[in-house]
Amino acid sequence: MEVKTSLLDNMIGVGDMVLLEPLNEDSFIMNLRNRFDHNEIYTYIGSVVISMNPYRSLPIYTPQKVEEYRNRNFYELSPHIYALADEAYRSLRDQDKDQCILITGESGAGKTEASKLVMSYVAAVCGKGQEVNKVKEQLLQSNPVLEAFGNAKTMRNDNSSRFGKYMDIEFDFKGDPLGGVISNYLLEKSRVCKQPRGERNFHIFYQLLSGASDDTLMKLKLDRDFSKYNYLSLDSANVNGLDDAASFRTVRNAMQIVGFMEAEVQSVLELVAAVLKLGNIEFKPESRVNGFDESRVKDKNDLKEMCELLGIEQSVLERAFSYRTVEAKMEKMSTTLNVAQAYYARDALAKNLYSRLFSWLVTRINESIKAQAKTRHKVMGVLDIYGFEIFEVRDNSFEQFIINYCNEKLQQIFIELTLREEQEEYIREDIEWTNIEYFNNAVICDLIENNQNGILAMLDEECLRPGTVTDDTFLDKLNTICAEHQHFESRLNKNSKFLTDHSLPHSCFRIQHYAGKVLYRVEGFVDKNNDLLYRDLSQAMYKATHSLMRQLFPEGNPAKVNLKRPPTAGFQFKASVGVLMKNLQTKNPNYIRCIKPNDKKVAHIFTDSLVCHQVRYLGLVENVRVRRAGYAFRQPYESCLERYKMLCKKTWPHWRGPARDGVEVLLTDCSVPTEEFAYGRSKIFIRNPRTLFTLEERRRACLEDLATLIQKIYRGWKSRTHFLLLKKSQVVVAAWYRRYAQQNKYQKIKSATLVMQSFIRGWKARNILRQLKYEKRCKEAVTTIAAYWHGTQARMELRRLKTEARNKRAVSVIWAYWQGTKARRELRRLKEEARRKHAVAIIWAYWLGLQVRREYRKFFRANAGKKIYDFTIQRIMQKYFLGLKTTTMSPMDNSWPAKPYGFLEGAHTQLRRIFHLWRCKKYRGQFTEEKKAVYEEKLEASEIFKDKKALYPSSVSQPFKGDYLEIQKNPKYQKLNSAMEEKVLLADLVNKINRANGKGSPRLFLLTKSNFVLADQKTGQVKASVPLPDLASVSVSTQSDGFFALKLKEGSASASKGDFLLSSEHLIEIITKLHRIGTTAADRDQINIDISDEFLVQFKQDKVCVKFIQGGPKNGNSAACKRKNNRLLEVSVPSP
Ligand SMILES: Nc1ncnc2c1ncn2[C@@H]1O[C@H](COP(=O)(O)OP(=O)(O)OP(=O)(O)O)[C@@H](O)[C@H]1O
Ligand SMILES: [Mg+2]
Repeated sequence: MEVKTSLLDNMIGVGDMVLLEPLNEDSFIMNLRNRFDHNEIYTYIGSVVISMNPYRSLPIYTPQKVEEYRNRNFYELSPHIYALADEAYRSLRDQDKDQCILITGESGAGKTEASKLVMSYVAAVCGKGQEVNKVKEQLLQSNPVLEAFGNAKTMRNDNSSRFGKYMDIEFDFKGDPLGGVISNYLLEKSRVCKQPRGERNFHIFYQLLSGASDDTLMKLKLDRDFSKYNYLSLDSANVNGLDDAASFRTVRNAMQIVGFMEAEVQSVLELVAAVLKLGNIEFKPESRVNGFDESRVKDKNDLKEMCELLGIEQSVLERAFSYRTVEAKMEKMSTTLNVAQAYYARDALAKNLYSRLFSWLVTRINESIKAQAKTRHKVMGVLDIYGFEIFEVRDNSFEQFIINYCNEKLQQIFIELTLREEQEEYIREDIEWTNIEYFNNAVICDLIENNQNGILAMLDEECLRPGTVTDDTFLDKLNTICAEHQHFESRLNKNSKFLTDHSLPHSCFRIQHYAGKVLYRVEGFVDKNNDLLYRDLSQAMYKATHSLMRQLFPEGNPAKVNLKRPPTAGFQFKASVGVLMKNLQTKNPNYIRCIKPNDKKVAHIFTDSLVCHQVRYLGLVENVRVRRAGYAFRQPYESCLERYKMLCKKTWPHWRGPARDGVEVLLTDCSVPTEEFAYGRSKIFIRNPRTLFTLEERRRACLEDLATLIQKIYRGWKSRTHFLLLKKSQVVVAAWYRRYAQQNKYQKIKSATLVMQSFIRGWKARNILRQLKYEKRCKEAVTTIAAYWHGTQARMELRRLKTEARNKRAVSVIWAYWQGTKARRELRRLKEEARRKHAVAIIWAYWLGLQVRREYRKFFRANAGKKIYDFTIQRIMQKYFLGLKTTTMSPMDNSWPAKPYGFLEGAHTQLRRIFHLWRCKKYRGQFTEEKKAVYEEKLEASEIFKDKKALYPSSVSQPFKGDYLEIQKNPKYQKLNSAMEEKVLLADLVNKINRANGKGSPRLFLLTKSNFVLADQKTGQVKASVPLPDLASVSVSTQSDGFFALKLKEGSASASKGDFLLSSEHLIEIITKLHRIGTTAADRDQINIDISDEFLVQFKQDKVCVKFIQGGPKNGNSAACKRKNNRLLEVSVPSP
């Protein structure tokens, strides 16, 4: 929440002089002093700021202070120059009102510092950005440059501005600075040549000599020693706290920032050096024939160096110091200058040169800082101009007159604007306008500037007048013309009242300025107003090769000779003041009135008389009076209500209605007399400060009560809050603790429960276990008992059975034993009996034998042999036949027991044959018809080939398969098969031997009952079908090859194609089958099988002999046929 403060808070004295009670000079100064003692250097008179120079740095210009005053209302915080700067800047930015800040005060009062504070504040609060910062920097850096050339140490101020300065800072619509324009007023150029005691020349001279490098000084032909230069006063060349060398560096840096080129800086320094050199030129008189003295340059060295510096011909300048050309009525006349005139000319040149250089600098700075954009700008002007100067009697001269004139004008504009503002506010606020009594200084301004009889006009008139013109003639003129003027005083005035006024010397006149009376000495008025520079000198300067120099003296251009006198200084000043006033009138004025507290330039000293003097001539009390002429204090209703609402119960703490009604209620409730205030449209106007103070007093008292109340409530609230916090914490803590305790308890109960549970479960389990164990034991016991019982039973049974068995066994054993015994006895008896019988038999036999032998002894010889023989034969035969039993039933088995006895040889062989036939018959008996046919074929083969062809033995074990091609099943031969009309008895792959080369080509060989067929192996196409009756014979070799020739009957139908020479792996089978078919066919001749190693084959026309030879091992396993010649094919058969 923003805290509303007011200037009235914690006031030391009164922050706004408008509220001063009683208002008089003493109370005014007392208030200033009181505030000054408390480091409050700023005090308001309404919107005017009075600034006391503290002569020490106070911590009130910090960035924090800038922030504090930024965007705050003027009367919200204690008086400060920042408040004024902020107000001016905001109304410029937000209300589009051009502003001017008028800073006045006497020398050393802090005007320049104040102007810099204003500029730095504005720079701090306005926009930022690269371009804006550059502009700001250039504006701020113009100060050191101008201060170096335009400021000097004076008795009053170590950094006294010796020129008036007005700077327009231009802003865009956002309030960002765009640039600026500086105007300078009346540089105190007399200081270049002469400085009062205790003062010194412009800073730049000292800075250059102290700070420039040796090299630079050499180039400028200067010496570092100040004492070498006439124009530099020596007694205060070094100023305490001023470091000229460092300042020189600052100035050079500032010039660079502002935008001076290096060459420009050099030119400027050369002109500064030239001024110093000029001061050193001295003259000596040289008598002329006409009796007049003519001036001559004493020591030409400085003149020479100066001319070298500026590129001027030495003789030209030298002549300009000795002669003066006067032109009258188109005639040129040269008059000599005496020494005094030469010195006058020299000084005039030096002063002009320096002041023109200064003006050039201002123009050059303006060029750099001028706003680039051509759009309409908002302008804030800062006027740092010398305040009223009232020196001791006789010290006020033309300069003071001019300065005071300027201040008169400023006062006038102040009065005008303040009253106008006041009047406008009254009208705006609908308050009845009461005429304000105040002193209008227009009459004084008129005295000075009136075009007909104004002092300046008369001075000009005097200067231009032909004839002898002196300061005294000028004073006389004043005395006559201004005698009647109530603000003009002079001893020689026709006004007799001053005749006896000894404070008014004869050579002086006095003007009653609005700020007090000032006595001016007329001496030098005419000269200074004339500001004469001989044309010869300006022409000499124009002849310089130094471009800046030429620029500074344009009137020296002989092509532009202007016989008209240049405008006088007074005239120029009046014109520029007029322009300034016009400029200021268009702007909203803001005043800073600077006051210096003491003459010693030290802190903490407040000299009443000095301050009183300044307060008087600044017209500050007058200022307050004007301000208070109507109503002393005014405030918007909202602020007033906000500030004093606690004084009335109806408005405290909140007023719901319009603020104005609230203020009305408030003031009525506070019983403020109605004549003490007036209600404006937006503001309440309070006539008397005392009324305000009464309100303030009541407010303070009320605030104390409120503070106590607030304190009370706050303490109560704090304690209650604290208590509630404690309570809340306690509840939280208690809750947490309870939770913790419950948790603990729960944990304990839980663990106890678990223990108990486990115990109970254990106990239960044990019980069950015990029960189970008991049951198990019971069961086991029962089982055991049963087992035991059964065991017992069994054992008893066993025992019984055993006993029974034992008994039985015993019985049986006994029985057996008995039986045995009985049997043994019987056996023994039988044995005995048998033995006896045997013995009887033997004995009987022996006896019989004996008997027989005895009986048959007589017959024995006739029959015994034959019987023994028969018996023996019978036994041998029996043994022999039993021995034959070992022979197997296989017809292949050739084994036969060896013959036992020779007499059985024939029978043995016969028996073997009969047995073999019998077993063959038996074997055959098992055969099926097919097998039988096969064996018949095999038999036939054996009949044909056995022992005739070496191939035969290997074929015996091979069964005759017949259909090797599986012609019935194989789909490849389906067509061939269907072409066969009869059943195929044999189908095989053969090679048909080609007579031409003896090589074989594969053919399918098929044999049916009535013919044989040769077909193509691949296509199955029948190549030859030969009826078997056409086949005459078959020829084969004796060897193990498969070649055979099918020879056809000559004259038969098939014979035309010739015989076939073929080879086959199944030769034996093919030939046997052919032979068999031939044999079985009743209507046909038998096919001849011709077995020989050489036979003829009829190939179409020729008969070719096929010869079989035993080939060497080279020939491999199979037989190879080779054509030997046209009639011979040789077949090599591998050796067996
Ligand atoms: N606000 C301030 N705080 C601290 N010192 C100040 C202040 N104002 C002025 N001074 C001191 O006073 C001296 C003189 O101030 P300043 O140069 O501004 O005076 P002035 O009014 O411009 O004088 P002049 O008319 O001779 O130029 C400064 O050099 C500075 O030391
Ligand atoms: Mg100054």
